Amino acid sequence: MSRNLWQAVDDYVAGTIVAADPALEAALAANAAAGLPSIDVSAPQGKLIHLIARMTGAKRALEIGTLGGYSTIWLASALPHDGRLITLERNVRHAEVARKNVARAGLAAKVEVRTGAALDVLPLIEAEGLGPFDFVFIDADKENNAAYVEWGLRLSRPGTAIMVDNVVRDGEVGDKRSADPDVIGVRRMFDMIAREPRLSATAIQTVGSKGWDGFALALVL
Ligand code: SAH
Ligand code: DHB
Ligand code: MG
Repeated sequence: MSRNLWQAVDDYVAGTIVAADPALEAALAANAAAGLPSIDVSAPQGKLIHLIARMTGAKRALEIGTLGGYSTIWLASALPHDGRLITLERNVRHAEVARKNVARAGLAAKVEVRTGAALDVLPLIEAEGLGPFDFVFIDADKENNAAYVEWGLRLSRPGTAIMVDNVVRDGEVGDKRSADPDVIGVRRMFDMIAREPRLSATAIQTVGSKGWDGFALALVL
């Protein structure tokens, strides 16, 4: 019952103030046609990522977990014309779909989709001197979330915003006995952030078309 209402409110918000680009709709259609799972952020969530990136004046962004590039398009379109987004995706099929979606959105010049397991690619990003990043969006395999936040911090400067998707998982994050590897990964990330004096952070629960979940947001001090 509540889930229908969450969906209806998301539809209302998306249909009034979010103003999604047709290229975003086209990306979701292409993802579905290619059989990708519909685990992208919702339109209101994508707009939130977009607005935070703009509010912080982000020019260089890093995304971990591309899927079909739906969140990528929201984030890249928040960057200035000379901005740059590097997005990491392990699955070559997902990456191919994402590159096409990004190109259709007219953002190919700003976006580089790199394939490989993020923990293998991140050291190369560092070695190539592609950081520091102004905005980091983490949305890949949740088991590695603590390591991804560590990498985000390593590739950051004071003022960088690090945002992490899916940190609530139907409320299971509050259950210290959870055996779900994703939840264990998210909880390890919370412990890591709590111990890290260079990060100031919060997490906000969300409901909507993607169910009950949430975002963590951390500022690099
Ligand atoms: N950010 C996307 C959704 C990402 S879904 C959006 O909102 O539109 C998670 C993605 O992370 C999947 O495509 C999956 O293949 C990828 N992934 C999982 N483990 C990974 C890893 N170790 N390195 C890089 N990508 C990974
Ligand atoms: C899952 C992964 C995501 O990145 C997401 O946003 C939602 C769900 C998943 O693996 O179930
Ligand atoms: Mg996600």
